[in-house]
Amino acid sequence: MDRLERLTLIGSATLMAAFFGALVYAATQLRISVPTCVTDVAPFTQGKVIDKGNHHYEVHMVAKMWAFDPPEVRLPPGAEVDLYLSSLDVTHGLYIEHTNVNLMAVPGSVNAARFHLDTEGEYSAICHEYCGAGHHFMMGKFIVTSAAAAPAAVEAGAALGQQLFEQKGCPACHSIDGSTAVGPTMKGIFGRTVELEDGSTKVANEQYLEKAIRAPGEEVVKGFPPAMPEPALTGAEVHALVEYLETLK
Ligand code: CUA
Repeated sequence: MDRLERLTLIGSATLMAAFFGALVYAATQLRISVPTCVTDVAPFTQGKVIDKGNHHYEVHMVAKMWAFDPPEVRLPPGAEVDLYLSSLDVTHGLYIEHTNVNLMAVPGSVNAARFHLDTEGEYSAICHEYCGAGHHFMMGKFIVTSAAAAPAAVEAGAALGQQLFEQKGCPACHSIDGSTAVGPTMKGIFGRTVELEDGSTKVANEQYLEKAIRAPGEEVVKGFPPAMPEPALTGAEVHALVEYLETLK
């Protein structure tokens, strides 16, 4: 065998061994695994975080127009996370920054990834698949903090409401500067008299706004399409949103 031939063979064999070594190192030392589609888990409709003990957490994440549920996940440093992702409507994506998590949320199926969050900080979870008018607002958050067990700081209603307004993608259809978009503007909404599709009128007070947020299909404002999806909000969140809307003079 020619000397050059032998060198080439040894070189490529060494390279393959290095690749294999890197693979083993990534799997065992860096604990990186490849995202997979799981077939034995039924698609779920509600997001939740389950503490399995021993720093192991299971996160059920639901993607929907245009938010992730749960919108915020708090975990302690060193958490090992089994993430299961499903979608309620169209195809979404989920990329969590500074991790190797990059999944598709496909309606009717569940995709999974295991990852670790060792360093304290905030990690944005971003929808990276175009999913409609609110796509660019579709964002969640993983917060790694040693104070994870402590209850979330109590925020002033209106400030929390503003955060939710942006987080839930409301600005995609509702302006706050008086301009008309897919939906009515929220500027000066509180106390305004609105005309509904059936010709009746209502004053936009607290009860009206709460209902309009909870069940957007029931009382549609005249001249606008019944396009608003029912948001997944807790009672306190709806209340905070209304408090925010009251500030939009
Ligand atoms: Cu969801 Cu883009």
